[in-house]
Amino acid sequence: MRNYKIAVIPGDGIGNEVVPAGQRVLEAAARRGGFTLDWAHFDWSCERFAKTGAMMPADGIDQLRPFDAIYLGAVGFPGVPDHISLWGLLIPIRRSFDQYINLRPVKLLKGVDSPLKGREPGSIDFYVVRENVEGEYSSIGGRINVGTEGESVLQQSVFTKIGCDRVMRYAFELAATRKKHVTSATKSNGIIHSMPYWDERFAAISAEYPGFKTDQFHIDILTAHFVRNPDWFDVVVGSNLFGDILSDLGPAVVGSIGIAPGGNINPERIYPSMFEPVHGSAPDIAGKGIANPIGQIWSGAMMLHHLGEEAAALEIEAAIEAVLASRDSLTRDLGGTASTTELTGAILGALG
Ligand SMILES: NC(=O)c1ccc[n+]([C@@H]2O[C@H](COP(=O)([O-])OP(=O)(O)OC[C@H]3O[C@@H](n4cnc5c(N)ncnc54)[C@H](O)[C@@H]3O)[C@@H](O)[C@H]2O)c1
Repeated sequence: MRNYKIAVIPGDGIGNEVVPAGQRVLEAAARRGGFTLDWAHFDWSCERFAKTGAMMPADGIDQLRPFDAIYLGAVGFPGVPDHISLWGLLIPIRRSFDQYINLRPVKLLKGVDSPLKGREPGSIDFYVVRENVEGEYSSIGGRINVGTEGESVLQQSVFTKIGCDRVMRYAFELAATRKKHVTSATKSNGIIHSMPYWDERFAAISAEYPGFKTDQFHIDILTAHFVRNPDWFDVVVGSNLFGDILSDLGPAVVGSIGIAPGGNINPERIYPSMFEPVHGSAPDIAGKGIANPIGQIWSGAMMLHHLGEEAAALEIEAAIEAVLASRDSLTRDLGGTASTTELTGAILGALG
C-alpha cells in the first residue's frame, strides 16, 4: 500500500484547531483512496519560542528532511514579534528545502459571497505563483551610524537568472494545463535594476512558450485589476514581495481568508514541500472552536495532489465545494453559526 510520511506542525492559535480537522479529512480520503498517511507531530511554535528561545530545535531542518511533505497550520502569536516566527521557522524551511514556488489558487466557489458585486461562481478562477526564496525578502543589508543623526539602513534585493527563470517556467507549465495565459507583476518604471531584469527574463521565458497569451502590469495597477477585473487572469507570476501581496489580495476578493489554501513547493521533489492555509493564527478567535477549517483542509488536498494522489485530492475539493454550495454547517466568517468540528463533520459527510 502506498504510504506517505507527513510532518505536522500545527503552530500557534487556530493552527491547533484547524490542523486536526485537516488530518481527519485527509485520513478519510486516504482510506477511500487506498493509501496511508504516517503523521509525526512537531510542537514548533511561538509558545515553544517563549519557553526555549527558539521556534524549532537547531537540527529542525534535518529532522524534517526525510518526510514526504510538511503540513503546517500557522505561526505567530501576540508577544512574539512576527519576524521571529517568520525568520525562525517559515523562511528557514522554505529556503533550506528550496520551496521556490508559493502557489495559491483563487477561485470563487458557489455559496461564498465575494466582496465584489455581481460576480458569479466560476467567473474568478486563477492561480498566483509567487517566487518564494529570493527577491525582496533578503537578509542582506544592515544599519550604520546607529543612534546618530546619520543613522542609515540598507536592504538589498536579490534576483538571480535561475530564480527568475524557474518560477516563470513553473507559471507557464501551470498555464499549459489551463488557459495558456500568464500575467507578470512588475514595477520596472520605479525599480530600475531588478524589475527591468525581471521583465527581460519574462520576455525570454515567454519566447519558449509560443501560442501563450502573456501580459504584464505594474503592481499598483495590477492590484486594482484584481478588484475590478479578476476575470482577466489565469496564472499570475510575481516576485516574493509582489506575489506575497497578490496572494493575499486574490483570496480576499473571492471571500473568506479562512478558505484559502497554499503550498510552498519544491517542484523537483528533492526536498519536502510544505502546505499551509493563507490565514494566520487568528489570536482573536483562537480557542473558541469557531475557526473555519476549509483553508487547512484544502491545503491538505493540494498536498495530496503534490504527492500524486490526484483522485483523493479532487474528492476533497468536491466535498468542500458541495458543503459551501449547500450553505449548511458554515462557520461565522462565511455567515453561518457552525463550529470548526461541525463544518469538518459536514465535509467528512460529503466525502461519503
Ligand atoms: N503562514 C503563517 O503562519 C502566517 C500567515 C499570516 C499571519 N500569520 C501570523 O498570524 C498572526 C495573526 O495575523 P493576522 O491577524 O494578521 O492574520 P490572520 O489570518 O491570523 O487573521 C486575520 C483575520 O481573519 C480571521 N481569520 C483568519 N483565519 C480564519 C479562519 N480560519 N476562520 C475564521 N476567521 C479567520 C481572524 O479571526 C482575523 O480577524 C500574526 O502573528 C501573523 O504573523 C502567520
